[in-house]
Amino acid sequence: MGIEVVKKLISQKEFITMSLDLNLFFLRIMKEHSFFLEIGFSPRNKNMGEQAAMFRRGFEQLLSEATDLANGNVSANALSSHQVTTQYTLEAERLTNFYTGIPFNLGLTRREEMLQPAGLRMPSARTEEAVVRLDRRAYQLTAELATFKERLLQSVRSCKMFTVNYPLLIEHILREARHFMEMLVKLIHRESITRPEDLLSQEVFWNRQMAEHAKFIAGLLDPSEETLIEAASMFGREFDALTAEAENATKQTMDLAGVTADSRQGTERLRDFKASGTKGILECKIQSIIIPLLGDHVLREANHYLCIILISD
Ligand SMILES: [Fe+2]
Repeated sequence: MGIEVVKKLISQKEFITMSLDLNLFFLRIMKEHSFFLEIGFSPRNKNMGEQAAMFRRGFEQLLSEATDLANGNVSANALSSHQVTTQYTLEAERLTNFYTGIPFNLGLTRREEMLQPAGLRMPSARTEEAVVRLDRRAYQLTAELATFKERLLQSVRSCKMFTVNYPLLIEHILREARHFMEMLVKLIHRESITRPEDLLSQEVFWNRQMAEHAKFIAGLLDPSEETLIEAASMFGREFDALTAEAENATKQTMDLAGVTADSRQGTERLRDFKASGTKGILECKIQSIIIPLLGDHVLREANHYLCIILISD
């Protein structure tokens, strides 16, 4: 007989709140990944661009449904962390639309900005059923997008296709799609996604994502922006070290609180760097090939990570 690990199941209300928090954040992230891929193809791969556009519209639709369900059901922590939208999201979408001609549903962004958190009221069985369906559809569409990203990455890595997105960026966003799917599976099985004992593996994951963000920023700034490139490269090295620190901590029992404190402190500084960078791009004070929505996107991911540390620690 094997050892059976009995995991405590979450309540109906926890299931609804955790699902909506997760979907509000990640469905927008997946919608934006689809957009970043869409604008990166050359005329030869027009068909790939069209597929990416279909994913963008599919995720926008799911995000709209998640937003309807989330009003009065999302957690106060998720809203106050600014992982759903930031002070720059609307303006970043407006300018990105101006540059690319691709439409953004600004009404949806405004609805997200107006969301109200869950109160003491118990959610209805109908809400629960709708959230179960949302989780399943989010999983399905994300699995399809992950396959699309995998195929693209394979073609790019083997020099069979060209896109302006870095191979590492495609790998990075594939990792995020898989991470979202893992979290959805836990929720579908009514397991918590905010257990303190899982915090360290979240730190390994997100420190690596933060390191790569810093490297993407360094690589997409105009070469004349030497000071900013140097600052971004320093964050890249710092977060490589933080990833190694968190990985080592999983192998041996060491000062977990110290690792988390280092991760939090580094992420707070990187978040401020991303916020001022996004502002600078929106105000035309920074020269780069960073599409404005990418600045806001990576800022939201830092906010999401800080929220995980806050609620699990
Ligand atoms: Fe990311």
